[in-house]
Amino acid sequence: MQELIPPARLLLGPGPSNAPYRVLRAMSTPVIGHLDPKFMEIMDEVCQLLRQTFRTQNQMTFPVSGTGSAGMEAALVNLLEPGDVAVIGVNGVFGARMCDVAERCGARVVKVEAEWGRIIEPERIIEAVRQNPGARLCALVHGETSTGILQPLEEVGAFLKDGDTLFLADAVTSLGGAPLEVDAWGIDACYSGTQKCLCVPPGLAPISFSPKAMAAIAKRKSKVQSWYLDVTMLQKYWSAGEGQRLYHHTAPISMIYALREGLRIIQEEGLSHRWERHAAAAGHLYQGLREMGFELWSQEGYRLPPLTAAKPPQGWDVEGIRKQLLGDYDIEVGGGLGPAAGKIWRIGLMGENACVQKVAVLLRALQDFA
Ligand SMILES: Cc1ncc(COP(=O)(O)O)c(C=O)c1O
Repeated sequence: MQELIPPARLLLGPGPSNAPYRVLRAMSTPVIGHLDPKFMEIMDEVCQLLRQTFRTQNQMTFPVSGTGSAGMEAALVNLLEPGDVAVIGVNGVFGARMCDVAERCGARVVKVEAEWGRIIEPERIIEAVRQNPGARLCALVHGETSTGILQPLEEVGAFLKDGDTLFLADAVTSLGGAPLEVDAWGIDACYSGTQKCLCVPPGLAPISFSPKAMAAIAKRKSKVQSWYLDVTMLQKYWSAGEGQRLYHHTAPISMIYALREGLRIIQEEGLSHRWERHAAAAGHLYQGLREMGFELWSQEGYRLPPLTAAKPPQGWDVEGIRKQLLGDYDIEVGGGLGPAAGKIWRIGLMGENACVQKVAVLLRALQDFA
């Protein structure tokens, strides 16, 4: 068996995105112990950088060891107890996944559904919470990667702010690539993944819990079912004062180095600039695709800049060309999921790849098929 040399692909799919050399270099620096005082400093830096990126003051902000789904599970398993009611928006794969996880927590799920590729009207979500006055949780996917929809959160957050129902948002694809204001929008729990707009390989799920969420967790009647994801135990490792940190599990050291570097890059660029860059790159892509006869599939006015769902022109071999792009051009784009399988492509412009140059590379390759 030979040394591993993976192909150098341009990752323009739904994630992972390409990790910059700075991030890869950070990963190859020496591993130290998870209770080493130097590592504790690094942990504090990562938590602070995450707060800045989530736009929150929440003390309990840290990376869960696991992918985005571990973040989803960590949020739901801590916030829900058997018998609780959870109002969950479903307009794609990831809303449906949240329902599945919430049901596994023993919650009664009230789904608020909308057609794939369209937002869920905020009034409908608010109405569902009104109809279920004791609901423990209202959960929405901010950036629905399966459809390329950016779900508005502010109105729902403002409605929930003064009540007991907690507001959970999935920001796996939006964090670092589209405006997200955890504190200003009244979000009580928010999770993401490292492999999209943060430009770090998959493996960590940044998460943030508000004081209101932490107070609700402290009042739970039952133990959190998951030992690994119990935030009250993780708190003693991630958020305890100096000299008081307790071993919980062996943190994935190299991934945390990588996240630190990815977040440093974001801070250097500035969040607003980064959001604007993603929006501008998406604008170039929309124009180029339209000129080639593609149809933009998701609802106008609510498109998720880091992920564009587009229907190739009539007569194109949708899946065949996608495979050729990968095999012959080293360009990855994603296929459709669920009702959109075989019909659309999902084109990611995430992090480093959200730029005119990468859009041009893709469009030039596509011209060979026109
Ligand atoms: C919106 C959304 N939520 C959750 C997930 C799950 O993340 P992961 O695949 O990293 O477990 C994804 C992954 O693509 C996602 O796009």
